[in-house]
Amino acid sequence: MKNNTVLLAGATGYLGGYIAKELETRQISTKILVRNMEKAAKLTSESTQIIKAEVTNSETLKGHFKGVDTVISTVGITRQKEGLNYMDVDFQANINLLKEAIKSGVRKFVYVSVLNGNLHRNLKILEAKEAFVDALIASNIEYTIIRPNGFFSDMKDFLEMAQKGKVYLFGSGEQKFNPIHGADLAIACVAAITAKKKEINIGGPEILTQNEVAKMALLACDKPIKIIHIPHWVRKLVIWFLRTFTSSKYYGPYEFFLTLMAEDAIAPRYGIHRLSNFFQIEIDILKN
Ligand SMILES: NC(=O)c1ccc[n+]([C@@H]2O[C@H](COP(=O)([O-])OP(=O)(O)OC[C@H]3O[C@@H](n4cnc5c(N)ncnc54)[C@H](OP(=O)(O)O)[C@@H]3O)[C@@H](O)[C@H]2O)c1
Repeated sequence: MKNNTVLLAGATGYLGGYIAKELETRQISTKILVRNMEKAAKLTSESTQIIKAEVTNSETLKGHFKGVDTVISTVGITRQKEGLNYMDVDFQANINLLKEAIKSGVRKFVYVSVLNGNLHRNLKILEAKEAFVDALIASNIEYTIIRPNGFFSDMKDFLEMAQKGKVYLFGSGEQKFNPIHGADLAIACVAAITAKKKEINIGGPEILTQNEVAKMALLACDKPIKIIHIPHWVRKLVIWFLRTFTSSKYYGPYEFFLTLMAEDAIAPRYGIHRLSNFFQIEIDILKN
């Protein structure tokens, strides 16, 4: 694998940063596509070449895939910004990468979608991601689609509420999930370069209820346990209100989180990182 170059798109993001580190640790020759060279400064290493390109502009991708064995893409947006929507980025930017990969004879494409994304195509963000998944499957390139559970980075929402003294949850709070740390997921993404599996569902090692995560966050903040349970009808009303009175640009991330947090989401367990340690580290960073 040492001589097989990987092209990584999304390295300036949470997961992509860990994948860049993992590729470096394994001394895999890597090309990293970024649009902001300053953000990429910390990703530079002996085995890494940083290339400035705009994944939303296919012209800028030309020529950079020569000699590449595998493309890994974590490109996506949660909150739509810069006048671009999910279709522009989660779908079209990844299509641009796929087309350039196919044209250049790349062997494999590894794409990071979302756990159960194919079951929630009615949500704007997943409509775009799954449209790309469809295109990837229909192409002739070898592929692995990684479907992770929520990232630890998103669990910071619990910490933010905990710092203010109360965590708000919808329903009983007994919905179970197993969030995953970027470092653990990055190992699986890099392993996917040689994996035979076409789709990999993956979550962290601990299956937790939302109440347990709320308690962990409050304990990390040295706050008494105060969890407020809001009835599901309020959640449904909020989704309806946002869809009716705001644009999809605004409601996209809210419908996504408000829908998925109402159900259990358990993926095969993977990794070693524990959420309580992550919370503690985040709080220590905030204190210093
Ligand atoms: N967060 C979760 O809980 C979760 C769970 C499952 C799956 N996922 C999916 O996993 C993927 C990676 O997530 P993440 O948390 O690592 O995301 P992230 O931190 O937001 O990083 C996204 C990456 O995409 C790039 N990007 C976004 N818009 C772009 C644009 N218009 N032009 C060029 N590049 C653009 C960003 O580049 P810049 O740095 O230049 O903006 C960044 O490198 C996403 O598709 C996400 O939906 C997330």
